[in-house]
Amino acid sequence: MGPNGAGKTTFLKTLIGFIKPHTGSIYVNKIDVTGNSELAGVFMDYVPQLTGFTSTTGFPITVWEFIEFSLVMHLKKMKLKMDKSEMQKTIREALNIVGIDKSLWHKSIWRLSGGEKQRLFIARALVNNQPIILLDEPLSSIDPEGRMDITNIVSNLKKDKIIIITCHDPEIFLPISDNVVLFGKGIYYIGKHKETFNINILERIYGKSAIKLKDHIHIYDHHN
Ligand SMILES: Nc1ncnc2c1ncn2[C@@H]1O[C@H](COP(=O)(O)OP(=O)(O)OP(=O)(O)O)[C@@H](O)[C@H]1O
Ligand SMILES: [Mg+2]
Repeated sequence: MGPNGAGKTTFLKTLIGFIKPHTGSIYVNKIDVTGNSELAGVFMDYVPQLTGFTSTTGFPITVWEFIEFSLVMHLKKMKLKMDKSEMQKTIREALNIVGIDKSLWHKSIWRLSGGEKQRLFIARALVNNQPIILLDEPLSSIDPEGRMDITNIVSNLKKDKIIIITCHDPEIFLPISDNVVLFGKGIYYIGKHKETFNINILERIYGKSAIKLKDHIHIYDHHN
């Protein structure tokens, strides 16, 4: 968590190997994946922040084909085999889990709304079934009801995966988080939910946007 420009996206891109850090290394299971997105991709899947993913005329591909393509590439990369009916089942399940309506499955991805695109990218990560999933602001274009859906999906996923998520609104993911990292203005805090959700710490990270109202801490969201 942290304000705009704090470095959340940069942090995730560093984990997945798109950016090489000036110092330090990234290890997964004692394997050094620093700056190596090919190798990091064996363990992790990255769901990008979707601001900017708004083009209306792109390569003509349907929702189903987009997920199928991703699954085929993943199987190839991991040297795995899956028969056609199992592939179809996997794709169907992923689209159902993220709640993309069946009527959209054979429509172009370019006509999806922002929230539907967000769900599509999560479905892509689900079919790939990596042990670590990085989600960059998965709620940025999701309506309040959808936010609960996505939170439930994340809660379920974290039973057998490591989920690293960036977000602005602390109230949604913090209660289900095991560890919290706060970024801001060159400082950071790492701790459990209750330790970091403290007005003194949040004021240092968010400045005047962090406000305590009785027992409740609110972060004014200037995002989007
Ligand atoms: N490719 C790049 N080259 C140089 N600077 C960059 C690049 N990408 C991001 N930055 C800068 O690095 C800083 C951190 O950006 P980053 O995108 O990681 O922030 P963020 O915490 O994800 O913000 P937001 O909440 O707006 O998504 C910002 O000052 C940004 O302008
Ligand atoms: Mg970002």
